[in-house]
Amino acid sequence: MQTVNSLLKMCGLPRLEARMLLEFVLKQPRSWLLAHDTDPLSSETVASFLNLAALRRQGHPMAYLVGQREFRGHALKVTPDVLIPRPDTELLVDVSLAAIRQVGARSLLDLGTGSGAIAIAIALACPGIQVMATDVSAKAIAVAQHNAQSLGATIQWWEGSWYEALPSEGRFDVIVSNPPYIASNDFHLSQGDLRYEPRQALTDEADGLGAIRQIVTGARAHLTDNGQIWLEHGFDQAHAVQELLLQQGFNAVQTHKDLAGQPRVTGGSL
Ligand SMILES: C[S@@+](CC[C@H](N)C(=O)[O-])C[C@H]1O[C@@H](n2cnc3c(N)ncnc32)[C@H](O)[C@@H]1O
Repeated sequence: MQTVNSLLKMCGLPRLEARMLLEFVLKQPRSWLLAHDTDPLSSETVASFLNLAALRRQGHPMAYLVGQREFRGHALKVTPDVLIPRPDTELLVDVSLAAIRQVGARSLLDLGTGSGAIAIAIALACPGIQVMATDVSAKAIAVAQHNAQSLGATIQWWEGSWYEALPSEGRFDVIVSNPPYIASNDFHLSQGDLRYEPRQALTDEADGLGAIRQIVTGARAHLTDNGQIWLEHGFDQAHAVQELLLQQGFNAVQTHKDLAGQPRVTGGSL
C-alpha cells in the first residue's frame, strides 16, 4: 500500500515536482500532504500520479502536466497549444504599463497573445483602457479567452496573422508583442520545455527576426500619433530591433534589461 511519503520517495522526481504532481492529482494543497503523509492512497490516485511522474521523467513540462502557470500573480490555464508564460515576460508588462501611463493610453494591442498572459495582466492592471489581442492560432485564442473570462479581464480577441487579424483600420496608443524570435537553427529548440511547446510560438522558421520585422514594419500604420511599440526579443537581438525601429522612423528608441541584466525589451515612440 503506497502512502504520500512512500510515493514521493519512489517516483524518481525531485521532491518539489513530485509534491506538485501529487497535489494536482489529489486536488489538495501542500498543507494536506504534510498532515496526511502516512495515509494510504487509493490505487486510482497512485496510478494517475505514476502516469504523470513518468511523463515528467520523459521531460514533459510541469506546466502542461498540471495545466497551469502563474504570471504576475494570475493563475493561467496552459495547454500544449500555448507557450508557457515566462517570468522574463513580466518585464514587457512593466514596460507596457509605464508606456500606457506616459502616453495616457486608451487602447493597447497585444500581437501573438498565446495564453493571453500579457493582455490579461495589462487589462486587469488598467481596467479603463481598451485591450485587443491577436493570435494566428485559434486554439491559443480559445485558451486566452478562457483565462480572461475566469480572471475577469475584458479583452477583444482576433484570429489571424499579425495586423491582418484586425477587423478594420483602427489605431492603438500602444502596441506590444512577445513574438516568436528564436532562429530556426537554434539548438535550444530541441532542449527542455521548448521541445513540447508549439513551434510557431517559438520560431519564425528563419533568422529569428522575421516576425519582429513584420510587426515593426506595420506598426506606424496602426499606432496613433505619439504611440509606442514595445517588443520582447532574444538577449542578442537588441541592436537589430533598435535598427529596425530607427529605419521605420521611431524616436526615443531604447532597450530595457531583465533582472539578469540581459537586454530583452526594446521599443520606441512615433
Ligand atoms: C512567444 S509566443 C508569446 C505568447 C504570449 N504572448 C506570452 O508572452 O506568453 C508567440 C505567439 O505568437 C503567435 N504567432 C506566431 N505567428 C504568428 C502570426 N503570424 N500572427 C499572429 N500570431 C502569431 C504564436 O501562436 C504564439 O502564441
